[in-house]
Amino acid sequence: MYDAVVSPKKAMKTPYYFYDLDLLERTLIELIAEADDSHIHYAIKANTDKRICRMISNYGLGVDCVSGNEILHAIRCGFPPSKIVFAGVGKTDEEILIGLKHNIACFNIESAQEVQVLNKLAKKMKREANVAIRVNPNISAETHEYITTGTHENKFGISCEHLMGVVRLIEDSSYLKLTGLHFHIGSQILNMDNFKDLALKVNVILADLYDEGIDIKHINLGGGLGIDYQNPTGNPIPDFRSYFQLFRDELQLDAHQEVHFELGRSIVGQCGDLHTKVLFVKQGVSKQFAIVDAGMTDLLRPALYQANHHIIKKNALENEEQHQYDIVGPICESSDVFRKSYSIDKLKRGDELIIKSAGAYGEVMVSEYNLRSRPEVYYKKDTSMATIASGEHILMN
Ligand code: LLP
Repeated sequence: MYDAVVSPKKAMKTPYYFYDLDLLERTLIELIAEADDSHIHYAIKANTDKRICRMISNYGLGVDCVSGNEILHAIRCGFPPSKIVFAGVGKTDEEILIGLKHNIACFNIESAQEVQVLNKLAKKMKREANVAIRVNPNISAETHEYITTGTHENKFGISCEHLMGVVRLIEDSSYLKLTGLHFHIGSQILNMDNFKDLALKVNVILADLYDEGIDIKHINLGGGLGIDYQNPTGNPIPDFRSYFQLFRDELQLDAHQEVHFELGRSIVGQCGDLHTKVLFVKQGVSKQFAIVDAGMTDLLRPALYQANHHIIKKNALENEEQHQYDIVGPICESSDVFRKSYSIDKLKRGDELIIKSAGAYGEVMVSEYNLRSRPEVYYKKDTSMATIASGEHILMN
């Protein structure tokens, strides 16, 4: 992988990811201002690029990991173990041991059996582990079914019906300490009413636990805040204000209770684009195809979630003729389509296209299917921005 900061003028080989670290920095500054005293853990699954992770850790965020390797990577990128939460419905013993060895902040557990295994391993390691119970609140989020996580149809979390049983199990586990409740209802959620439903449910659950004499210190509300895929240039920074304000207004918490969030897409989604070149323009029977050199192996979201990323032609002239194309990749799969019947400036072989909003769940989901090479990676960073925040900053070499 070519991993360097380059001037945008230098020729770059397509397909490539291009990260705007200045936009990431602006996003972080706004996030931190709006989050106020909430604790933010970056959901590192969204993008594990080292420069991106280093910048996020430099801003003091914690991290949400879903594998042992993510924990090790996060530590290498500067996240302190005391700010690592470990989620995931299927943690292996090896992964749990990594978390225990590094004394991470919290294990978000998702089943009664996981509690037993964690307690056994913690005893073996002679370590006490903090745990949060991931509760499945049975709330639907208006998003794609593959990224809905908080209903009884989903494999995630423990239902409210089974919650007390798991609480008692943790209380009886001498190496575990129940410190939190964890929720995550889905991703790419733009309707704040879905988060309001979550907040109201959390209030009910906390009140029920309180009546049973159980006091919860951390309330982790997951991530899920969506980004504007239709108008990324007009709306490069997500609506953090409404998101945090909603929880501030709706959650009924005591002063000693901490609020945590695990945001992924909303932090890194807009800072990354995928650049690709038109290989061929082909007239079909009823439609025109623009066949590009990036495919579903480079950006899986359109094929997997029917996601519509905004696409623009680089260096387009003003008032160019608009044509309709199916913009498709070269992979031998009919689902390898970025956009169908998409109106864009007239295209010809060699034109470069920019697929916007690819910073989250883009590069991390790259595959080598068809023995494809991984896309290249380039960065844009204006050094003057480095003075905005304190602390160490990424190297510019
Ligand atoms: N916390 C938990 C427990 C999660 O499962 C997720 C994402 C997050 C936090 C971060 O959610 P975010 O803030 O990014 O919405 N590959 C899919 C998205 C999968 C999300 C999985 N969980 C996509 O490209 O849309």
